[in-house]
Amino acid sequence: MSKASPQIDNKQIDFSSDAYRNAYSRINGVVVVGEALADRHFRLLAKSIPEDRDVLLRLGAMEGRHAVEFVGCGRNLGIKPDTTLAKKLFAPLHELFLKCDHNNDLPGCLVIQGLIVECFAVAAYKEYLPVADPYAKPITASVLDDEAEHLEYAECWLKARFQEVEATVSCVSSQALPITLSILQNLANDMRTIGMNPVELVAIFSELFQEALENIGYESRLARGLIIRAATSVPLN
Ligand SMILES: [Fe+2]
Ligand SMILES: [Fe+2]
Repeated sequence: MSKASPQIDNKQIDFSSDAYRNAYSRINGVVVVGEALADRHFRLLAKSIPEDRDVLLRLGAMEGRHAVEFVGCGRNLGIKPDTTLAKKLFAPLHELFLKCDHNNDLPGCLVIQGLIVECFAVAAYKEYLPVADPYAKPITASVLDDEAEHLEYAECWLKARFQEVEATVSCVSSQALPITLSILQNLANDMRTIGMNPVELVAIFSELFQEALENIGYESRLARGLIIRAATSVPLN
């Protein structure tokens, strides 16, 4: 994909320009709303998986902390997160999670929060890290480590039950992936404005998600097929 495209570093960015601040407030809104939803999802999972209650409550608390820390990153730049668009963009994914939760579909819940949202978070923070302002950079780096731990929890849970959950993983992935990619598509211009490369982000996301599916037991060809079908349904402009 865009592996060869030159990566700008944060010294070339004017963090105080109106264009940067406007775009950042929407991106920051998505980050804050995404983290708050992740907090909620882990708390719901803690109720559904009582044997892992403490672990899941701890992961949820980490997400809550991430939301607070990223609000702080915006405050440091004199920006408030614009959550209007973010709430609209995340609504279908959250509704799908709630539907799975309501139907006691634990694999479905773990695919949405544990694989897709976590891969999305890792990919987005990886792509943002080199262009982050000096205040946000160490926060983003430490959040990245946390998200990797969350991804690992879901992988382990799904891997231990691969035979019984494979059909659900495929079905929920095919519903949730296009929603996730359309969130990215809606933010592409704002990402470019703050120095991120949305095409690169989708490439990192696809790689991570493919790796996650293989870690839980998918053959690489099947994993790739799932991702390609979703990606071709939501072309990035
Ligand atoms: Fe998080
Ligand atoms: Fe997370």
